[in-house]
Amino acid sequence: TRRVRTHHLREMKERGEKWAMLTAYDMYTAATFDEAGIPVLLVGDSASNNVLGNDTSLPVTVDELIPLARAVSRSVHRALVVADLPFGSYQGSAEQAFHTAVRFMKEAGAHAVKLEGGAEMAAQVELCTQAGIPVMAHIGFTPQSEHNLGGYRVQGRGETGRRLLADAQAMEAAGAFAVVMEMVPGDVAAEITKTLSIPTIGIGAGIDCDAQVLVWQDMAGLRTGRLPRFVKQYADLHGVLLGAAQAYAADVASGAFPGPEHTF
Ligand code: KIV
Ligand code: NA
Repeated sequence: TRRVRTHHLREMKERGEKWAMLTAYDMYTAATFDEAGIPVLLVGDSASNNVLGNDTSLPVTVDELIPLARAVSRSVHRALVVADLPFGSYQGSAEQAFHTAVRFMKEAGAHAVKLEGGAEMAAQVELCTQAGIPVMAHIGFTPQSEHNLGGYRVQGRGETGRRLLADAQAMEAAGAFAVVMEMVPGDVAAEITKTLSIPTIGIGAGIDCDAQVLVWQDMAGLRTGRLPRFVKQYADLHGVLLGAAQAYAADVASGAFPGPEHTF
């Protein structure tokens, strides 16, 4: 199996072939998604609120994310592994972004990094790509800027759609190999996708993006409660896991487990 490279993603765009990206934060999920043929796995800073128990993505640190990224990159044969740069680890300067990105490449074996922001991050994207580190951009609703954006809301409505297009173009010009668009009106995302030659990856950005991404616990129904509108659940992993834990506990309580076949 040939490794997925950034040029393959660009070629898929040229052929009009859509693809799916998922987050992954550990060995078995990474290996399973790789086996499923998912071409790109993202070690998202969403690990903060999907693995580490925080409310938002803001608290997660580079030191916390690196072991997760290392587990994912060790567990795939084919997928391109992208590591998110955590809040505060790249916005300060291009040099800071470069230093953090190098840590993810050297210590975690990531193949690329992702950072949030548009034109204001051009220097960061330029330095990293010139140094040999592929960068995925992330525009629209950028969770690390939640407090600046006034909470979880759609970005790029009306007049601000122009600015989003300019941000996407700035990221392409700076050397980004792909751009995530989160919670962007479908028509704006469609226009950006048509304008760029690098692939766009949508999450809450409609059908016309070149690719889609979901947090795996959302996709597989491990997360319960109120879900964002852009999530579709493809399994009820919460129900499966709950049932398994209950059945195991009941077997232990009743003496049905372990049986003679489990005993030495
Ligand atoms: O951290 C994350 O999971 C992400 C995706 C939702 C794009 O940034
Ligand atoms: Na993220």
